Amino acid sequence: MDSAARTESGLPLRAVYDASATEGFDTAAKLGDPGRFPYTRGVYPSMYTGRPWTMRQYAGFGTAKESNERYHELVNAGTGGLSVAFDLPTQMGYDSDEAIAQGEVGKVGVAIDTIDDMRTLFRGLPLDKVSTSMTINAPASTLLLMYQLVAAEQGVAGDRLTGTIQNDVLKEYIARGTYIYPPKQSLRLTSDIFAYCHQEIPRWNTISISGYHMAEAGATPTQEIAFTIANAKEYVRAAIGAGLDVDDFAPRLSFFFVARTTLLEEVAKFRAARRIWSRIMREEFNAKNPKSQMLRFHTQTAGVQLTAQQPEVNLVRVALQGLGAVLGGTQSLHTNSYDEAIALPTQKAARLALRTQQVIAYESDVTKIVDPFAGSYAVESMTDDLEAAALELIQAVEDRGGAVSAIEQGFQKSEIEGAAYRFALEIEDRERTVVGVNKFVLDEEEPYEPLRVDPRIETEQCERLAELRKERDNDAVERALDALRTAARGTGNVLFPMREALSLHATGGEVSHALRDVWGGYVPHDTF
Ligand code: 3HC
Repeated sequence: MDSAARTESGLPLRAVYDASATEGFDTAAKLGDPGRFPYTRGVYPSMYTGRPWTMRQYAGFGTAKESNERYHELVNAGTGGLSVAFDLPTQMGYDSDEAIAQGEVGKVGVAIDTIDDMRTLFRGLPLDKVSTSMTINAPASTLLLMYQLVAAEQGVAGDRLTGTIQNDVLKEYIARGTYIYPPKQSLRLTSDIFAYCHQEIPRWNTISISGYHMAEAGATPTQEIAFTIANAKEYVRAAIGAGLDVDDFAPRLSFFFVARTTLLEEVAKFRAARRIWSRIMREEFNAKNPKSQMLRFHTQTAGVQLTAQQPEVNLVRVALQGLGAVLGGTQSLHTNSYDEAIALPTQKAARLALRTQQVIAYESDVTKIVDPFAGSYAVESMTDDLEAAALELIQAVEDRGGAVSAIEQGFQKSEIEGAAYRFALEIEDRERTVVGVNKFVLDEEEPYEPLRVDPRIETEQCERLAELRKERDNDAVERALDALRTAARGTGNVLFPMREALSLHATGGEVSHALRDVWGGYVPHDTF
């Protein structure tokens, strides 16, 4: 093995690790016990020996009806939790019948314009029993309130709802791009959500602070956890600044990371992230509640590492990536479908992705031992190295005034673009092997029949909206939207007037436009 071998983070990698690699390793301080500070070994004492991770397959396309059918299929196939993908108009706070939405309705996720769509989306699904994740950021409050209103119709009170909204706009400024309002107003909305959920939906995970999308944009493992934790610190500061007590909201913060095929470094990455976060929460933010110090996270296998060439080979990649997430102690896992590099996953591919998790959970022995890599010369050494490198990068963000200020200077974006460029060069120069792409290639790819989304979806959704606008009490809706604008101008929690407007069948787009009227939209600085 090349003595100059490096990890994905560019850290030194040894061919042989021995006791020298963990010389002076302070086991008690660095490892502790599973379920105890600093949580290196996992957030629960029993981990999967007590309860397997949640198998939570991200899904959603077309109208609420099509997605509802897929959710019933996934629940019947054994998935433990739901995970809603929304289409871009919904994610960007536009209605399906707005010009800007044309061609995107129901495409990368489900179109949700009103409480009626939300009711259809969860028809026949018991919201007091399923935990639902919603990948929604800038309009997260809108979709959460629609969900709460629909649950109330099922007789399920807010304090019995479990789930997560992604609600992480800072990473949208860095990667992915589904932001609406400027950072200051976005952080205000996030703090309003924390306060609202503490009062109304106490078991809800109010944010899923994500490294996944930055990793998909090219971030190394070190950059992924460092920029995610730096964003998390910004949210905590904003909430404390809004007058919240850290132990009132921190237990319901959650995280979201990628799992790459480089399994050993990924295990070290998850362990380092837990240790870093627990120390920041106890030492910097003086969090007393152990749940405030626990970094609980969801993992999705690396979409960017799937190949369109020989797509079945992705089944092996996803199995290795899923195994890494489990060995790293994830609480919830999405395994990608092997055909996702080509098109929306077919039902068969989606089922195979779930079966991959079920084989790891029920046929392998990795769920029988908590943190099996504990004490490993290699993984403990890699965990230390990643921790040190990530702390250094977190400090670099803090030195620039924290995550928002660093974003406005373009720091995170330029660091990630640099890593992405190096990665692309390595593939081009064949320094990095991608099976089926730059090595072991086929002369002719075999045929593949992708899933096609019915183009009539957009028309149907727009007709439903036109109907709703005719039937509802438009004066009452307008008054409710005005009340929302008034709250946005003031300092009151905007979620209460927002909930009233949505209950009167205001649309998601109308709610977002009401906030745009007051806060304006975010215009990226062109300083970088
Ligand atoms: N011992 C004791 N208790 C245990 C336990 C154990 N071994 N294991 C679990 N539990 C308990 C937990 O304490 C919890 O109880 P509580 O709610 O009362 O605290 C309950 O069992 C459920 O366990 P978890 O909370 O660990 O598991 P969940 O699945 O409910 O939550 C999460 C996991 C990470 C905290 C949560 O935030 C989550 O589900 N996140 C998912 C996010 C997601 O799906 N995102 C999708 C993004 S897709 C995207 O962005 C776009 C794409 O293109 C990338």
